Amino acid sequence: MGKSENVVWHDHAIPREKREALHGHKSFLLWFTGLSGAGKSTLANAVEHKLYDLGCHSFVLDGDNVRHGLCSDLGFSGDDRTENIRRIAEIAKLFVEAGTISLTAFISPFREDRHRVRELMPEGDFIEVFCKCSLEVCEQRDVKGLYAKARAGLIKNYTGISSPYEEPEHPEIVVETDHETLEESAETVLNYLTQRGLITR
Ligand code: ADX
Repeated sequence: MGKSENVVWHDHAIPREKREALHGHKSFLLWFTGLSGAGKSTLANAVEHKLYDLGCHSFVLDGDNVRHGLCSDLGFSGDDRTENIRRIAEIAKLFVEAGTISLTAFISPFREDRHRVRELMPEGDFIEVFCKCSLEVCEQRDVKGLYAKARAGLIKNYTGISSPYEEPEHPEIVVETDHETLEESAETVLNYLTQRGLITR
């Protein structure tokens, strides 16, 4: 339980179904998870472009941006990561309630945290996309130079180096970003959505 007492939940005057009807498509949450450098944000943005071209309303939430604002008070301890994911999940849920497709790109290294997001969302709305990429390749890419710093001991609790990444056991979608092109991975996601009847192409 939180600290807010004497607060009564009230339903939205316009239900989600009507918002979805207005947009002409279903809303849902695409949860991208994987190591830093695995290509989560790149893929989320590529998928969003394809959704946009299909006339879908969507929004990408991404670790590096959210940590500048909403979660600027959080670091990378286990507890802080859990709180980071909890806040993102609540925001993503609001987007979905608003009839918008939500795409989130966070390492979200802990299985339990991701499971909590799944439980928070209405059945079937949480679509876990595992961006699978070997640590070796992520480290070679080292786009932000942070793996080198972590190896040198300059950054503590770095995922993959000094903090664990727990792979999803039953993700809805797996993309292997070290073996596929961006286009192939994006198509895998779009094909899944089409097969589920969540979008039409
Ligand atoms: S999460 O673990 O809480 O899901 P999040 O996705 O928000 O992480 O942020 C990850 C990004 O923060 C990385 O891509 C990297 O740029 C940066 N970062 C800084 N310190 C760390 C760290 N100790 N572990 C992982 N990523 C870090």
